[in-house]
Amino acid sequence: MEDPFAFLVASRCCDTLRFMQEQRRPIMLPPEPFPWPFDGDVYRMAMGLRSQDPTQWLAPDAGWPAQLAERARLLRDRKWDVLALMPEAKAAAAELLALLRLHLPTRFPDWFALTGDGLRSQVTGTVLDPSSFDHPLHMLAHLLPDDLCLLTASAGGWRLTGGAVCFPSHWFLPHKLGKPLPGIHRPVPGYDATLATPVDRLFDTLAPGRTVWRANWTLSDDPVLFQPGTAAHKPADETIQAGNAGDRLLMRVERQTVRKLPESGAVLFTIRTHQRPLSALDPDQRRHFAAILRSLPDEIAAYKGLHRTGPAALSFLDRLS
Ligand code: HEM
Repeated sequence: MEDPFAFLVASRCCDTLRFMQEQRRPIMLPPEPFPWPFDGDVYRMAMGLRSQDPTQWLAPDAGWPAQLAERARLLRDRKWDVLALMPEAKAAAAELLALLRLHLPTRFPDWFALTGDGLRSQVTGTVLDPSSFDHPLHMLAHLLPDDLCLLTASAGGWRLTGGAVCFPSHWFLPHKLGKPLPGIHRPVPGYDATLATPVDRLFDTLAPGRTVWRANWTLSDDPVLFQPGTAAHKPADETIQAGNAGDRLLMRVERQTVRKLPESGAVLFTIRTHQRPLSALDPDQRRHFAAILRSLPDEIAAYKGLHRTGPAALSFLDRLS
């Protein structure tokens, strides 16, 4: 099998190579969590913010190695589609790298250690050194499975000025770069009326050092993590029926965190993607998910592309809950 970390072999660091060869050994990570994205019985478009335990922010889990291998592949093959840093976000990207060099080895010393200017990750068995990468976001994209977005304040509001986004759920980083929050969310029905003001206020007032999290979700018929196209316009897959929907359809949940960087004042928005086939949900989760699907306003269902997958999902969820 192709080595996803081969890009490091091509880099000039012999120590890195030696370390990779020595450190390839089984690792025990805690199971990957599956954050449940709903807090009521009916769909409600809301911020849904919860407080993030600072000691567990970006904690490694068993989903990391596979997602990091896929990120390495995308960063090698599609770098310009998944990575961008505008001049406005350069200081924020450097600040973020410094913050994570402190946070990760302090909170998770089994998995991370400081090296010269970089970091050693026991998750991937690699040493990441800033000099081997284009910029800090490029290095961090190899270190964490979470997608990273940097937003900086401007006269026109908070704008997306940097990103490492390998696992987008039906959007494309180059199309959103430079846009303010309402522009980024233009296709989302109800965003302007319901969320635009609270989200801007959150970004304006969030205290540096405090981290909050929220979740987005969708129903997917494709386990591929890099999903840059829109969900709504794909044709329905006729081979997905009630009988096989449990295995063919996935609940795709994004655990997103928001944190303000104290020196640059930029906001870091992280997105970790978790997927689970419907057949892996427990009976309560199936009932809950079916109720949410039934309560969706038409325009939200259409935006999420549920005309394709919703009926088969409901047949499956109803039969087994
Ligand atoms: C706390 C702040 C935020 C809230 C409450 C929020 C809320 C949402 C919601 C409800 C959706 C629709 C998702 C769905 O129902 O499937 C969405 C989509 C999206 N959000 Fe956010 N969002 C926030 C921050 C951000 C930030 C900082 C970015 C920066 C990159 C972002 C990028 C997107 C994108 C790219 C989409 C998909 C838009 C499309 O379909 O083209 N969001 N967001």
